[in-house]
Amino acid sequence: MAINTRITLVRNVSSGAPTLEDFKAETVPTPTRDSLGNDEVLIRTLYLSCDPYMRGRLSGRTDSYVASFKPGMPVDGLGVGIVEASTSSELKEGDAVTGAGFKWETKFTAPAKNFTKVSSSGGVSLIDYLGVLGMPSFTAYVGTVTLCKAKAGETILVSAASGAVGQMVIQLAKARGLYVIGSAGSDEKVQHAKDLGADVAFNYKTVGDLDAAIKKAAPEGLDVYFDNVGGEFLDAALVNMKPYGRIAECGMISQYNATPENAHHIKNLMYVVMKKVTMYGFIVTDYYTTPVYPEFVQTVSAMLKDKKIQYKIDEVAGLENGPQALLGVLEGKNFGKRIIKVSDPPHRL
Ligand SMILES: NC(=O)c1ccc[n+]([C@@H]2O[C@H](COP(=O)([O-])OP(=O)(O)OC[C@H]3O[C@@H](n4cnc5c(N)ncnc54)[C@H](OP(=O)(O)O)[C@@H]3O)[C@@H](O)[C@H]2O)c1
Repeated sequence: MAINTRITLVRNVSSGAPTLEDFKAETVPTPTRDSLGNDEVLIRTLYLSCDPYMRGRLSGRTDSYVASFKPGMPVDGLGVGIVEASTSSELKEGDAVTGAGFKWETKFTAPAKNFTKVSSSGGVSLIDYLGVLGMPSFTAYVGTVTLCKAKAGETILVSAASGAVGQMVIQLAKARGLYVIGSAGSDEKVQHAKDLGADVAFNYKTVGDLDAAIKKAAPEGLDVYFDNVGGEFLDAALVNMKPYGRIAECGMISQYNATPENAHHIKNLMYVVMKKVTMYGFIVTDYYTTPVYPEFVQTVSAMLKDKKIQYKIDEVAGLENGPQALLGVLEGKNFGKRIIKVSDPPHRL
């Protein structure tokens, strides 16, 4: 009997840093064509996405926009795979698909309606549907273009600048004629932000005074701050906003593993009033069914075609290394968009 590997959650972790012991790699019988119900597909997993929002899903909380993982059940998230068998008229054997319902298993069955057919034509690889054409990249677009309406001549600061979202914020902002400042957690990441077009970038871990570092980079202040990290960095950015500045409140990763004892409480929120700042909290999934999504696909596809975009992927081999790969994102160990490679794509794709 063929053996299937899957990663399940052992326990929810409400605060503090999750560990490898909170996950379990199990071997179970591989699902077959015979196990399919109506309108279902059997998928071989190629790639799985490691995303910071998954930390919230480890927590067990019930008040979030996305359900928590359940102990004993496989972890799931965004992925790309190949249909190996189907009872659906929409998807057939050999189709490449993407979607948010990828179980962390080498092969799994699921309703066909959860997946979208994708192709690797026109210089686009299947992995790009988790990267440059994927969710984090769309997030960068929504925050920078749709909400903050970043425009030529303005100054934007982006934190976690070399990551999945940050590297797109830099390039979208540069393409729109902004002055771009990036912050990242190592000198290599800082260099990458500059290579992507950031006019200035600094290492927030070694710079010392964050407020002074932002002031040095933007003496006139910030029109836009794209916040990926929250915490102390957000406090420093708030002080440096120009009147009527905008903040894309995308994420607060510096707080995801915080405990009640060491959580950072924002001190400078009064600057939102004093500087008349607008903060846009948003979740990207709200925008997939709006005209913003085709606009994003068209914009980024054109940039790709003209070779005006780079996107660094940090690929980790092997499903069994998934938990480590995910936990590493929460510790800054990824360099670029972290993706787990579970199996090889077919040669023709
Ligand atoms: N609102 C939405 O719909 C949406 C969608 C996607 C992502 N997000 C958010 O966007 C942010 C970036 O996500 P991503 O997918 O692009 O991740 P990423 O940047 O590829 O990886 C996370 C990065 O965050 C930084 N980081 C980790 N721990 C940190 C800490 N304690 N303090 C400061 N920085 C830390 C690290 O970079 P350094 O080494 O540079 O510190 C790490 O590499 C996250 O907050 C995520 O939750 C929101």
